[in-house]
Amino acid sequence: METPLIDPFQRPISYLRVSVTDRCDFRCAYCMAEHMTFLPKKELLTLEELDRMCSTFVRLGVEKLRITGGEPLVRRDIMTFFRAMTRHLDSGALKELTLTTNGSQLHRFSKDLFDAGVRRVNISLDTLDADKFAAITRWGRLDNVLRGIDAAQEAGLRVKINAVALKGFNDSELFTLTDWAASRDMDLTWIEVMPMGDIDEDRLTQYWPLRDLRADLESRYTLTDLAERTGGPARYVKINETGQKIGFITPLTHNFCESCNRVRLTCTGELYMCLGQEDMADLRAPLRASPDDALLEQAIRAAIALKPKGHDFDYSRQQVGGKMSRHMSHTGG
Ligand code: GTP
Ligand code: 5AD
Ligand code: SF4
Repeated sequence: METPLIDPFQRPISYLRVSVTDRCDFRCAYCMAEHMTFLPKKELLTLEELDRMCSTFVRLGVEKLRITGGEPLVRRDIMTFFRAMTRHLDSGALKELTLTTNGSQLHRFSKDLFDAGVRRVNISLDTLDADKFAAITRWGRLDNVLRGIDAAQEAGLRVKINAVALKGFNDSELFTLTDWAASRDMDLTWIEVMPMGDIDEDRLTQYWPLRDLRADLESRYTLTDLAERTGGPARYVKINETGQKIGFITPLTHNFCESCNRVRLTCTGELYMCLGQEDMADLRAPLRASPDDALLEQAIRAAIALKPKGHDFDYSRQQVGGKMSRHMSHTGG
């Protein structure tokens, strides 16, 4: 039995988020600048290398693998990688294989994802208004994503919607989004906008603290706090009237770092120990240095030993404190 990965603050690391590409077919305004420079393809880990990386983490005790991007489903041949991970579900070592996606390709891939063992997907959707959707994603088509959601549910995938809370943008749709998600039996998680990467606008003007959003929800529904967690950072409430779950991801107003169980692998093989810190370890060099995984394992253990206590995000002094130069798409959210 391998010694499990435990960080210096006694937190077991059981959740690996893997960004398989920095590219995306959208350019959400809070996430990317309109004109982004993406990595040359030769910088990316190959699918075989991603397999070796993930398999090593699974051997060291990772039980939950979330594939992200950019948009993971725009990476060529990505289903080969998902299918390769099925063996870890079959062996029981991996408890969950899942992904976070913008939904644009789900009409093509949902069935294959289900067949590979995926049971749950998180889909990013910030508005139900087609014009606003095109504006926030800069050219995305809402009907395409809605078609993807239909396909996912038809294939048997449980869908959770992620919406970034943006004042002056989707605050007016709080009840519409809530009721729509409930009518389709989907949970809905709200995310506070985080200061990651240079974009074309000022995030502070759009910042909608989730404690305000919650108060707005309470003007119409009765909420019960739930103790349950999914292994992610969201805290959940139940809407008593519909039974629907609403999640809140509140890195700014309610820090959840003390129970952090995850690390993030980028598409170039860098391991970030925290979303809100710049420190990372290069795992690509030890991976490529030797065909056996001893060096890689050593590098992973050394990296986990450096995991910081928490992030430095802070909007409190009316300025974006602790801003990260890298984009969310680099580490996959
Ligand atoms: P569940 O398994 O459904 O709980 O997923 P999750 O919330 O872990 O994953 P998802 O990809 O849906 O995450 C939603 C967003 O939460 C991410 O894109 C990030 O914006 C944010 N998030 C996830 N993990 C962290 C974290 O460790 N720190 C911070 N600050 N934000 C995080
Ligand atoms: N702050 C908060 N959430 C963000 N996302 C992308 N950029 C940001 C940001 N700066 C969200 C996406 C998606 C998830 C992967 O991260 O909307 O739901
Ligand atoms: Fe793409 Fe997701 Fe970023 Fe939007 S938030 S640009 S869909 S990676």
